[in-house]
Amino acid sequence: MARNIHSFPENAPLLRAVFFLFLLFPLRPISASQNDYHRALHMSILFFEGQRSGRLPPDQRVKWRRDSALHDGATSGVDLTGGYYDAGDNVKFGFPMAFTTTMLSWSIIDFGKNMGPELKYAIKAVKWGTDYLLKATAKPGVVYVQVGDAFSDHNCWERPEDMDTLRTAYKIDVSHPGSDVAGETAAALAAASIVFRSRDPRYSRLLLSRAIEVFEFADRHRGAYSSSLHHVVCPFYCDVNGYQRGCTRPQEDANTESTYCETRSYCTLEIQSMSLVGITNMQGSTFSFPSHCCMHVLKACNDDGSSHAEVLMGKADYFESFKQNADGFICSILPGISHPQVQYSPGGLIFKAGGSNMQHVTSLSFLLLAYSNYVSHANKVVPCGSRSASPNLLRQLAKHQVDYILGDNPVGMSYMVGYGARYPQRIHHRGSSLPSVQAHPAHIGCKAGSQYFLSPNPNPNVHVGAVVGGPNVTDAFPDSRPYFQESEPTTYINAPLVGLLAYFSAHY
Ligand SMILES: *[C@@H]1O[C@H](CO)[C@@H](O)[C@H](O)[C@H]1NC(C)=O
Repeated sequence: MARNIHSFPENAPLLRAVFFLFLLFPLRPISASQNDYHRALHMSILFFEGQRSGRLPPDQRVKWRRDSALHDGATSGVDLTGGYYDAGDNVKFGFPMAFTTTMLSWSIIDFGKNMGPELKYAIKAVKWGTDYLLKATAKPGVVYVQVGDAFSDHNCWERPEDMDTLRTAYKIDVSHPGSDVAGETAAALAAASIVFRSRDPRYSRLLLSRAIEVFEFADRHRGAYSSSLHHVVCPFYCDVNGYQRGCTRPQEDANTESTYCETRSYCTLEIQSMSLVGITNMQGSTFSFPSHCCMHVLKACNDDGSSHAEVLMGKADYFESFKQNADGFICSILPGISHPQVQYSPGGLIFKAGGSNMQHVTSLSFLLLAYSNYVSHANKVVPCGSRSASPNLLRQLAKHQVDYILGDNPVGMSYMVGYGARYPQRIHHRGSSLPSVQAHPAHIGCKAGSQYFLSPNPNPNVHVGAVVGGPNVTDAFPDSRPYFQESEPTTYINAPLVGLLAYFSAHY
């Protein structure tokens, strides 16, 4: 990992390449079939209904799903029904669910005005997340962070409606802290409270007061949840690149990793809490700012999550000090910079190693777009060394990524299921790949599902709107269930995309 990613390399040949690419990139010919962003927006939100856990409401539009996991939490004496399955399995992981809810909320806060008739469905998608997060945080000093045993679950290929795997509920508490996951949960509740502020003031206040409680718990009892729940959450949402806040050190520094990552978690928590603090202050409270002492650690770490918070926080005028870091991060993801963790495929897709690449594509694109709007409103540009990036450049880069997802790419494949002429047929998703309960009412057991997993046939249930992990670094895509890194959809790929599509549907 580069220790200095935010300082622009003072290196003449590289800078020349950067100038060149800054000029070139927006002009790059995009094999432009005009995309139907409205349709894609509709689908991207519909996807969340297919990921629902718990008792489905009468207005459920995704009909191949049924009620599932109606006893979640019962073994711990609590109600943890509801929420989202994070991906193609049937575990409810709290960390991605909180991130998903946060990003859906930010999508609405920033771009809800562009959503038209889809807005009400986007709000429902947030509420499906927050209703669950409120249950998971109902007991002071405890946050339930996972329901389901990933090893037991991943050993089976079963519909959620048939699940007979372990549904253990895992929690963090005073003696088993997890300030990272609690911080993300607080951020989700806080962001959602903005979404509901005028739409449902009572619900909004509940979300905000819970956010503050959860944040204070996280702040007082610090630690990484992957230490407290290592055997449960690793290797699933443990220490990999991305929103998980994992911060991987070079091999030679391996023995200092845990301290470093713990520091990172604390800092992330503080940064995440900024949104909470901002909101609270707007409502006249005296909640104090967290210290800024961790910024130097953040600077050294290329982490989407923290930088994301920095970028979002950059919106507040009084965060000038953060703007510098946010600028540096934005510069570091522009094409033409040889960055160890963000590359571009030959077809122009942002690529980070580690699987489910589209999560990086959509999160980073959201940042680019959100930041371009901020910079544009502030009448500024992003200084990158001796050059600067205009808001339009950032917007075009985000649009290029979205267009790639929707089919403007070397293999002409839309990576959103149901959109375009060609899209993935064999996604790594249990419910989508097994016959629906309606088509096949009889129970399909753990191993009886294997024949569907291994089948060369397309999935019987088209999971409309699901965006899969996507192609590898050479723009190639296998469309095969066993290749889960490429063919599995996740809620955290779609959540930032909702905001992007809303914006582009209104502006193109
Ligand atoms: C990319 O995927 C294609 C098709 O599945 C495969 O042939 C190729 O080896 C992969 N390349 C890399 C670098 O993973």
